[in-house]
Amino acid sequence: MPITILIGAQWGDEGKGRVVDWLASSADIVARYAGGDNAGHTVAINDDVYKLHLIPSGVLQDGVISIMGNGMVVNPVNLVKEIKGLQAMGVEITPKRLLISSRAHIITPAHIALDKAKELERGDRAIGTTLRGIGPAYMDKTGRTGIRTGDMLLDVEVFAERLYGAISRTNEVLVAQGVEALNPQEAALDYIDAAEFLRPYIIDTSIYLYKALKEGKKVVCEGAQGTLLDVDHGSYPFVTSSSPTAGGALTGLGVGPMSVDRVLGVAKAFSTRVGGGPMPTELEGEIANQLRGTGENFWDEYGTTTGRPRRCGWLDIVMLRYAVSVNGLSEVMLTKMDILSGLGDLKLAVAYEVDGKQYEYPPVTNEELERATAVYETLEGWQEDISGCRTFAELPEAARKYIQRVSELCDVPINVVSVGPERDQLVLNS
Ligand code: IMP
Repeated sequence: MPITILIGAQWGDEGKGRVVDWLASSADIVARYAGGDNAGHTVAINDDVYKLHLIPSGVLQDGVISIMGNGMVVNPVNLVKEIKGLQAMGVEITPKRLLISSRAHIITPAHIALDKAKELERGDRAIGTTLRGIGPAYMDKTGRTGIRTGDMLLDVEVFAERLYGAISRTNEVLVAQGVEALNPQEAALDYIDAAEFLRPYIIDTSIYLYKALKEGKKVVCEGAQGTLLDVDHGSYPFVTSSSPTAGGALTGLGVGPMSVDRVLGVAKAFSTRVGGGPMPTELEGEIANQLRGTGENFWDEYGTTTGRPRRCGWLDIVMLRYAVSVNGLSEVMLTKMDILSGLGDLKLAVAYEVDGKQYEYPPVTNEELERATAVYETLEGWQEDISGCRTFAELPEAARKYIQRVSELCDVPINVVSVGPERDQLVLNS
């Protein structure tokens, strides 16, 4: 297993953090390849709940090296806060255990201001971004005007000048949007301190990975967000600005495809989405409320980063099939199966109907997708609490049939499901 790529197979929030934590127990390196602190990966270990936004979830496993890849966009101030927060919880984070690519891009305070201004401008077509400055930072990257984490290795004055320059450039766009410009010196103050702190962590991570793979080390690539938020493959423009899909792992880390031997998709046993955009299986009412939970538990369906209630619905097989195809998933793992207990009959959206025509894969245009209605197949549910099950044989027959049917409909093996947030609440097909 040289490289396993772990992908969110839906709209993010599939429970990837806990899966990475599990995979990391038999890996040497966990490397994140896309996105920034728009992500929120939660891992529960005994009584502690760790919420990670930038640092790969592998940091919670002793002896595992964590890498933040070049495909990421990094807010250095928030990264320092996250490192210190985890250190305060007893997690060992040193420049030997956390390596940051010198080629990741920096999110400036002006990017955050611009993200907010753009969302306001979009009005009722707002994307519902996390307002972390993600889109504007990637725009500067592809526009070749961004500043990179490697710039933090320069003399502090030189880095400061680059940062002021970057903020001033974004200021021009802000002012054109009718928003007050930021004072570059004031806005950058915390960034200078953060740069000093982060300097020892920054290296060329792609060369590091190349050498590690040559030595036979096992690497898990940790996806953030999900396939349906991918800037190319998601329901554009209601997407993030990075490539959470399998191809993004290669470019976002600088590794070649020949080392990859497993592409694992994580999907929740139902659907959730935060932010705007089409969601053909979205539900309202009692079942949606049961799927969402009340918000009292950290695993309820409220954003880890923004606290927003998530939209909830039945499992969308059309989208999952699509995720299998665009990522070449070798297997799927279903999370939160326990939440389906006691719901009564369960539904799977096996196709969409648009203007009287049925689709097994999403229709080509977003306009059609917005008009799509789900065609459901109904399966018998189960009443039992399954949170204590650890093998497929222990699951109620209806739960086994649900898994089996999803696997058949998507033509992909499913050999692991999760039945609760704790590290050991995994059910294996063994
Ligand atoms: P952005 O990434 O903040 O620009 O947000 C773009 C879209 O992606 C919005 O619909 C967000 O709600 C969604 N999004 C971004 N990150 C996550 C995530 O980690 N989980 C779920 N949705 C996300």
